[in-house]
Order: sequence, then C-alpha cells, then structure tokens
Amino acid sequence: MRVKITSAEILTLGKFIKEKSGIVLDENKAYLFESRLSPLIDELQANNYIELLEKVKKDYTGRLATRLIDAVCTNETSFFRDKSPFLLLVQKTVPDFYERSPNGVLNFWSAASSTGQEIYSVIMQLIDAGISPPKFKMRMLGTDISDTAIAKASRGKYTKFELARGMDGAKLHKFFLQTGDDWVIREEIRAMVAFKRANLLDPVTLTLLGKFDIILCRNVAIYFSQEDKTKLFNCLASMLNPKGVLLIGSTESLMGITDRLAKKDFRGAVYYEKA
Ligand SMILES: C[S@@+](CC[C@H](N)C(=O)[O-])C[C@H]1O[C@@H](n2cnc3c(N)ncnc32)[C@H](O)[C@@H]1O
Repeated sequence: MRVKITSAEILTLGKFIKEKSGIVLDENKAYLFESRLSPLIDELQANNYIELLEKVKKDYTGRLATRLIDAVCTNETSFFRDKSPFLLLVQKTVPDFYERSPNGVLNFWSAASSTGQEIYSVIMQLIDAGISPPKFKMRMLGTDISDTAIAKASRGKYTKFELARGMDGAKLHKFFLQTGDDWVIREEIRAMVAFKRANLLDPVTLTLLGKFDIILCRNVAIYFSQEDKTKLFNCLASMLNPKGVLLIGSTESLMGITDRLAKKDFRGAVYYEKA
C-alpha cells in the first residue's frame, strides 16, 4: 500500500539520503519516495517515514541504510547508451593507451555501472575491434552503490526488453546465450569484469580501488549537489593515471566543477583528460 509522505518527512529523509549517497531528492520527488519506500515501510511495519528512518538508523549493521539507498537509486541504463563514447573508446582512447604502453595493463572503471549494460557494451565493442586479452591486458571494474544493481550486473542476465534497448542481433548471438525468455552474457565476457559496491562519495573506499586509465562516470552526478560534484570529480581526477581519460554523460558538463581535467573532442565525442 502506498504511504503518503509529508513535506517535513521529505526534508528529514532527503537529508539522510543526501548524506549517505549524494542523491538530492526534493519535494518534487514525493511520488518517488512513496512508490519506492512504501514496500520497506510495510515490511518493517513502520507507521510513517520518520519511523522508517528511526529503524534504519537503529540498525547497527547498516543493512537497512543500504536497502533504503538502494530503493531510491534510479538504475536507468541501456546497452551502448549514446553510442559515441563506445566508438571513441575503440577508435582513440584504448588504442592510444596501448601505443603508450604496449605491454601495459589497461585499468578501466565503470564508476556507476548500474546493472552492467555499460561495461559489457565496452567489452563487446573492444572485442569486435580486435582488442581483447590475452594479447591486450586489461582490468575491468564496475561499481555502484546499489546492491541489487551489482547483483544483476554480476549475473549478466537480461530480459528481451532490456536487450531491445541498444543490442543488435549480431552481438546478441555472439555474446549471449538464451536461457528461457532471457539471455545471459557468455561466461568468458562475464569473467572479464569484477563488480563491487562502492559509494562515489566515499573517497577512502574509492582510493582503495587503485588508479585507472579510463573512467566512465556517466549519468550519476546529475543527481548530486554542485558541492558533491566538485568533490567527486576532483577525486576521480586524482584516481586517473597520467594521460588518463574520463567520460561523463552526454547531458553533463564539468564547467565550473573542476579544472583538473581538460575537455577534449574526438569526432564529436567529448571526453576529459587529466590536465
Ligand atoms: C542512471 S544510472 C547510470 C548508469 C550508467 N552509468 C549509464 O549511464 O547508463 C545511475 C547509477 O548511479 C548509481 N549511484 C547513485 N548514487 C551513487 C553513489 N553515491 N555512488 C555510486 N553509485 C551511485 C545508481 O545506483 C545507478 O545505478
């Protein structure tokens, strides 16, 4: 049953969610709180959103906080989203890396990987361009704050509706196996990526992930405040190796956010390079 949320509850809960994840949810998002959190309210037998928050805060394991953040995350994604970043990677960024370090290990990070479509698209595009292990060494990492997104990404199993968004027939048959109505990514592709939970606003956890040559951080900072965007992109800049490249979403910009990354363009695709 959908539980109505008041303006005061939005304010209190919104503050907690922003502190934990960076996601800014204001009064216009009442429907989002109600549709996504009512099931948790029911399950925990809370009478309202303030009681829900109290139960979450009392849970010393932190599991309820993780579930609450998970519930309000928007995991919207698709295969080959916006197309041009994937061409940029195979036509310029990745070849440039192997030209600089022919025997090097390419460190690649999808920093808000959601349910995995983004990083699997990168791998498929690289393989189709003849860039794959063992000749080309790479470490591929996908992280997200959402446990359910990470679990789905790790399974690599998609419905035909999810595949209809961006996947062409040739790649589908080359890289997936059908299981009932769904399709699962082939094991050799799945095994190329490690998925783990990481909060982009937790610099200590991020630093432990190591350094990267390419970072994709697309369509996540749109939910953050200006201050959190600055913190995030300065942190990502420090996690890039020299000449490292950052890709953001097609509607996003780093103008006025950080000067540690220089904006570049390749055949109409925008990317940022460590300055
Ligand atoms: C709209 S999806 C974008 C997915 C993919 N990058 C793309 O462009 O298709 C945003 C993702 O960011 C994740 N997210 C939100 N806040 C986060 C945070 N603080 N740390 C890590 N991931 C976060 C959400 O769980 C969601 O999966």
